[in-house]
Amino acid sequence: MEDIYGNHRDRMQETLDQLVSRVKTLREEMSQQTEFDPIEHILARIKSDQSMRDKLRRKGLPQTAEAALFQLHDALGVRIVCGFLSDVYEMRDRIAAQTDYTVVEERDYIRQAKPNGYRSYHMILRTQAGYYVEVQLRTISMDTWAALEHHLQYKKPHVGNQRLIVQELKRCADELASTDVSMQTIRDMILNERD
Ligand code: GTP
Ligand code: MG
Repeated sequence: MEDIYGNHRDRMQETLDQLVSRVKTLREEMSQQTEFDPIEHILARIKSDQSMRDKLRRKGLPQTAEAALFQLHDALGVRIVCGFLSDVYEMRDRIAAQTDYTVVEERDYIRQAKPNGYRSYHMILRTQAGYYVEVQLRTISMDTWAALEHHLQYKKPHVGNQRLIVQELKRCADELASTDVSMQTIRDMILNERD
C-alpha cells in the first residue's frame, strides 16, 4: 500500500527534528536559570501509517496525504514529560513565546481534566513548513496514568466490571494529581530555603 503521507515524509521528519531541538534549547535555558532540569523525557513520533488510516476512516475523511496532514492535526506529535506542574506551565509559556510557528489551539486538560481523569496540556502548532504538530505536556504522574489507561483500553474488561474499572482509574488519576500538588509544594519549599 502507498505511504499515506506520500512524498511529505522527509519534510515531516525535518519539522519534527527542528521542534525537538527547539524544545531542547528551551530546556537548557530553563536548567541554567533555575538549576533544575524541567524535563524528564521527550518523545517525538510520526503517527504510524496504520493508525492514521484508521483515524481517517473513523472520522469519515478520505485516505489522502492532504486529509492526514491538514484536516487532522496530530500526524506529528511531541510529548514532553516534566518533573513538576510548574515545569509544564513554564515550558508551555516558552513554547508559546516562539515566533517561527503559530499556536493554533490549546487545551488545558490539567485545570480541566477529562471526565475519565486524563490530564495533560495540549497545544497544536502550525509550523512554517505548513505542518501541524500536537504537543502534549504532562508530569511523570500524568504520563504514568495515561500509559496504563491506554494499555487497559486494549484489554477488553468484563462488561460487569466496566463501571468499577472506570471509577477506580478516575480515583487513581485524582490521587496522582493530588500528589503532583504536594510534590510541587515540597519543591517550592526547597527553592525558598535556598534563596
Ligand atoms: P482525537 O480525535 O483523539 O485527536 O481527539 P481530539 O482531537 O479531541 O484530541 P484530544 O485532545 O482529546 O486527544 C489527543 C491525544 O491526547 C490522543 O491522541 C491521546 O494521545 C491523548 N489523550 C486524550 N485523551 C486521552 C485519554 O483519555 N487517555 C489517554 N491515555 N490518552 C488520551
Ligand atoms: Mg486530536
